[in-house]
Amino acid sequence: MSNLTRHLFVALSNNNFLNRSAQKWGFRFGAEQFVAGTNVETVLKSVKRLNDKGMSATVDNLGEFVTERHISLEAKERIIHLIKEIDRQSLDCHLSIKLTQLGLDIDKSFCFENVNEIASVAQAHNVFINIDTEDYAHLEETIDILEQLLQTYDNVGTVIQAYLYRAEEIMDRLQNTRLRIVKGAYNEDESIAYQDKADIDANFIHLIKKRLKGHAFTSIATHDHHVINEVKQFVHDEEIDLNSFEFQMLYGFRTDMQKQLAKDGYHFCTYIPFGEDWYGYFMRRLAERPQNLNLIIKDKFYTKDDKLKKCPIIATSLIAASALYFVCKKRK
Ligand code: FDA
Repeated sequence: MSNLTRHLFVALSNNNFLNRSAQKWGFRFGAEQFVAGTNVETVLKSVKRLNDKGMSATVDNLGEFVTERHISLEAKERIIHLIKEIDRQSLDCHLSIKLTQLGLDIDKSFCFENVNEIASVAQAHNVFINIDTEDYAHLEETIDILEQLLQTYDNVGTVIQAYLYRAEEIMDRLQNTRLRIVKGAYNEDESIAYQDKADIDANFIHLIKKRLKGHAFTSIATHDHHVINEVKQFVHDEEIDLNSFEFQMLYGFRTDMQKQLAKDGYHFCTYIPFGEDWYGYFMRRLAERPQNLNLIIKDKFYTKDDKLKKCPIIATSLIAASALYFVCKKRK
């Protein structure tokens, strides 16, 4: 994947105007391929379907970089409602939350109060809370909040981004905490993060192997079959307990591989995003793999025998969005 395409989609994911417009227009870009609807009832039906196939789930109430208190408070209430429903319906499911949705850009103590309430309700309902890691500018405060929560709760954890030079240091600091390890999804400067895919992959594998050799529970979150195969071999050779880790993938990606891993006896968890605020998430998925656009175009606009159903609105929209972005940028 060219760095240029990646930078373009990540830049588009941060564009406020496009984000607001996307919310207004609804799911017209084909996002439903990767986002399980807009309400709690729909997403919990998806969780139930996965549980019936022997897979667990982590649910993400989409939304990030919030600057208005009432939006953070509404998100908190929706997350608390989800926790209670997960318990009431006895689902095998935890939550993934983003601190910038819960007010980190508004005021750190306001954000802490929100997350603290979520963690407390979740502990009472025996639900685990994962704090997703976002861009590097928010990392220090995210770790601070997590460490404060860990003084009271044992049902919270976070994500280690292997592209960061500091990844290993942070992972070691949190060795008794449940962690998810990923490659990393944001555009970060070369002063703080590896830029080269080979370096990121090598650090990713290194961190996974180190972590699997006896620490708290680990989620290995990737769609990369090279990494998955290497982990499977390592786990076999080192006789690692299969209960000490799980594989995770995003909803709508490599579904056959997801089912196969679960069938082969590995713990498997699908990350399911839902909600109106899908645009930033969706653009990051295109940044990681522009071929995802083909999946959507094929699914939405072609019949099973490969005939065109409708004109490719997505492609047109994205081209228009890109052009608009550059025009707006030039004006600044
Ligand atoms: P990558 O995109 O590097 O692909 C490697 C290779 O795998 C490709 O070249 C191709 O061969 C194959 N491949 C990948 N996708 C494929 C597909 N759909 N079909 C066929 N082949 C495919 N990031 C972050 O910064 N903070 C976070 O909190 C999270 N959380 C998170 C949770 C979960 C469950 C996942 C899966 C990912 C995240 N991420 C994340 C995103 C993560 O950092 C990363 O950007 C993406 O997972 C993309 O990297 P991969 O490891 O999947 O493979």
